Amino acid sequence: MSKLRILSGIQPSGTIHIGNYFGMIKKMIEAQDDGELFAFIASYHALTSVKDSDFLKKNIFEAAVNFLSLGMDAKKSTFWVQSDVPEVLELYWILSNHTPMGLLERAHSYKDKTARGLATNHGLFSYPVLMAADILLFDSQIVPVGKDQIQHVEMTRDIANSFNNTYGDILTIPEAKVDNEVATVLGTDGAKMSKSYGNTIDMFGEAKVIKKQVMGIVTDSKELNEPKEWENCNIYSLCKLFMSNDELLLLQQRYKTPGEGYGHFKLTLLDKINSYFEPYKERREYLLNNPEIVKDTLSDGAKKAKIIACEKMRQVRDVVGLRL
Ligand code: ADP
Ligand code: TRP
Repeated sequence: MSKLRILSGIQPSGTIHIGNYFGMIKKMIEAQDDGELFAFIASYHALTSVKDSDFLKKNIFEAAVNFLSLGMDAKKSTFWVQSDVPEVLELYWILSNHTPMGLLERAHSYKDKTARGLATNHGLFSYPVLMAADILLFDSQIVPVGKDQIQHVEMTRDIANSFNNTYGDILTIPEAKVDNEVATVLGTDGAKMSKSYGNTIDMFGEAKVIKKQVMGIVTDSKELNEPKEWENCNIYSLCKLFMSNDELLLLQQRYKTPGEGYGHFKLTLLDKINSYFEPYKERREYLLNNPEIVKDTLSDGAKKAKIIACEKMRQVRDVVGLRL
């Protein structure tokens, strides 16, 4: 039996936080052992929010460095920058003609941004169609995503079904895969960790920045000499990402026993975070200092992706009537 094809994209957002890591990157890296992984940096999608070319270039490069240092194996998997395989834009246009306006109007991501008063444009509105093209161009079967992206995969399925109803079974219907245990990593204020909410803990930031973020975690105001509750504590919920069950039981004891304050628990968490990411730092530094290696790796990845993309587009152009 051939391997399952798994695909995911990450927006090049520069500083990555531990929500991105546990919600998505880690699963993507692990997926390399579960099937045939296609992973790309969503550079076209980033244009919906980034309008500064140097910033975009830097972010694409850093996203590549982060993935490669965290374990993306470019030999085993196909890893590329979305805009190096522009065939996806042709599929995006073709799929647009199978995308009802109402479907896009219901997208949470679009509704949230309009509700927050952000200026919107057609790129943002049609973002899910481009995401559908990403997924369908590669006959992806499984799409590992965070909870916030499930709706986009559902929309992809609707669009693909509409296309297939018209032209026959050409497109593979994908499934979203969400790991419920870590579906939403909470930020320092207890809301979803997100760079847009300023409540993140960085993975590779300067030590003093990460310390400041951890020390800023919001807790209740129980004193040193009171027992504390771990159940709804933001520190504890982050510790769960880094600790074994035995370690968590010990931590629960520390919460119950008067004498320590939240500052102590924060330092324990900080230690855990630092030691978790420490092993990846050396390779990251090496890649940051050797950009040619990163660029060559991405260019090889784009070549591999392009072969599949071109073959799929030949099929699609054929069935829709664009090839004489
Ligand atoms: P942000 O919310 O910080 O802007 P992105 O929207 O760029 O993050 O998300 C990139 C990826 O990381 C997506 O797959 C998303 O589902 C995942 N992700 C982001 N924040 C979290 C979180 N707090 N918990 C789990 N996954 C997350
Ligand atoms: N929209 C995704 C995000 O913001 C990124 C993305 C673009 C993606 N295309 C994709 C994810 C295709 C999975 C599959 O995180």
